[in-house]
Amino acid sequence: MDNEGTRQKLVVTGGAGYIGSVCTARLLEAGHEVTVVDDLSTGHRDAVPDDARFIEGDAAEVASTLLADGFDGVLHFAAKSLVGESMQDPSGYWHGNVLTSLRLLDAMRANGTPKLVFSSTAATYGEPKETPIAESAPAEPTNTYGATKLAIDHAITSYARAHGLAAVSLRYFNVAGAYGRYGERHTTETHLIPIVLQVATGDRAQVQIYGDDYPTPDGTAVRDYIHVVDLADAHLLALANAAAGEHTIYNLGNGTGFSVRQVIDACREVTGHEIPAVVAQRRAGDPAVLVASSERAQAELGWKPERADLTGIVADAWKFAQR
Ligand code: UFG
Repeated sequence: MDNEGTRQKLVVTGGAGYIGSVCTARLLEAGHEVTVVDDLSTGHRDAVPDDARFIEGDAAEVASTLLADGFDGVLHFAAKSLVGESMQDPSGYWHGNVLTSLRLLDAMRANGTPKLVFSSTAATYGEPKETPIAESAPAEPTNTYGATKLAIDHAITSYARAHGLAAVSLRYFNVAGAYGRYGERHTTETHLIPIVLQVATGDRAQVQIYGDDYPTPDGTAVRDYIHVVDLADAHLLALANAAAGEHTIYNLGNGTGFSVRQVIDACREVTGHEIPAVVAQRRAGDPAVLVASSERAQAELGWKPERADLTGIVADAWKFAQR
């Protein structure tokens, strides 16, 4: 097992995106050498930390030649990640997510790259039968996005067993917050916290609450919000603990759920803005409650979320939204 302090030479695919850029910043701070590969289809060039090398292009295509330079590992964030879009454009998701990842795995194998940390998702579980959700829960995705991430997880398991890859998949719950100049700025924003904050900045008139008739205490859907820096730090621990021939899956969340109304209230408190909200139809495919059990990550990686407070998460996102 590597020790966390060892300097490693790493490729980060999708390092110009929200989570990839925060993770790149944390990897650099920990002393690692990072090459970011991103096609800038949804990422931003100026989100890539200055101390990282940057190559613009398709993750798998670039990796097929780049990895010949000898890298210790790949952190694979690059993906299409919108649930709604995945239902309208399955081809884009199966090709963009699954095919690209298979080609990346083959490039890693061909070049003897030993480690992979993969961005998986809570969407692999689908409608949960039990809460909180442990890694042993049945993986029955209800949308194409989750199905593509699950397919990649299965492929990684096979490559680890057959070819000795040291692999970790991290299944993210609702990632939020920001890290200084690195934060969430999607061209098409669908995520709750940035949308609510757009009302506070005056970029949006009101927020729509997608359904208030869920079987939850206030009728609105409950999610497990995790600070992007806590999430990024789990990647560093995953890298340090990945073992050859093994593929381990960890859920990452705080283990506490907050409703849509609670999130809006936290945003009102942080911004001092009244943030008008109206109740709208449920959004198709939204489960009532998604809360993680991260016991495995805590026990095996020694991971501990240190920024679990919702107000603090919103406050960091708010600082970023005002930039
Ligand atoms: N919501 C609203 N109004 C909005 C936006 C969202 O009420 O304008 C609600 C949603 O219906 C949902 C909750 O706020 O109940 C959170 O929605 P997000 O779109 O922020 O996040 P999701 O829970 O839908 O999805 C996110 C990721 C997925 C991941 C999932 C796992 O985008 O990739 O978390 O928990 F799978």
